[in-house]
Amino acid sequence: MDVLSSLSDLRTARLSLNGTVGLVPTMGYLHEGHLSLVARAKAETQHVIVTIFVNPTQFGANEDLSKYPRDLERDLNLLRPLGVDVVWTPTAEIMYPPGYQTWVEVEALTRPLEGAMRPGHFRGVTTVVAKLFNATQPAKAYFGQKDAQQAAVIRRMVTDLNFPLEVIVCPTRREADGLAMSSRNTYLSEVERKAATVLFRALSAAKDLYENGERDAEKLRGKMKEALASEPLASMQYVSCADYDSLQELDVVTGKALLSMAAYFGKTRLIDNFVLG
Ligand code: PAF
Repeated sequence: MDVLSSLSDLRTARLSLNGTVGLVPTMGYLHEGHLSLVARAKAETQHVIVTIFVNPTQFGANEDLSKYPRDLERDLNLLRPLGVDVVWTPTAEIMYPPGYQTWVEVEALTRPLEGAMRPGHFRGVTTVVAKLFNATQPAKAYFGQKDAQQAAVIRRMVTDLNFPLEVIVCPTRREADGLAMSSRNTYLSEVERKAATVLFRALSAAKDLYENGERDAEKLRGKMKEALASEPLASMQYVSCADYDSLQELDVVTGKALLSMAAYFGKTRLIDNFVLG
């Protein structure tokens, strides 16, 4: 496993990889969810490149860039047994050289949900992901369903900018009690960690309602709100029942839909979602 930092070393290594490359872009502090993306890439492509880069441009001014968890040695130890060819750990100066002024922006899809709560977030994500695609030239790129809007936005960007690659979205990995795996879970105190399972419970309650025939989206949103309100440590930011493709809020669920939510537990903001239909 080559661990590289400079762009020229990455380019040299990429040139020596014959056949298909699977890219797993990450911000590090890896968990089972990331490792499942690597395993899927390993199964589907001839070579695997993992990138580890805590991308400053996707963090808002009041967000957690400086305290985002980082542990490169731990990450490399987790990746070594998985047969990864290259780990690229560029610096912020490599990704955003002095005078940087080029951005990739997806429009309507980035406005609701996370885009509404985190202005500029998706501009940072699409810009860095486009740069990672350019640098690593993958045939397939792997993302988690937990960041459902991110996956939709990246899929849109790939279509719109004719990137010659396939976006593969893999299922959310969960802890035994249902909490979606996330590097941010490490911020939670013991009581907050327990309270955070309310996200899974709220989504499950709305899904049960849907499976029992309810198609009124407001009732599904109401069910999620009710469940979140029952947990005193959860401070809801939004709940949504939206069209799966456009991410616009629905009145009635007729096709594939996305139930999603964001809530604070203390200072930690968590998101989760289920797909219906
Ligand atoms: O999902 C993430 O970890 C990040 O948003 C990504 C895709 C690596 C871009 O920085």
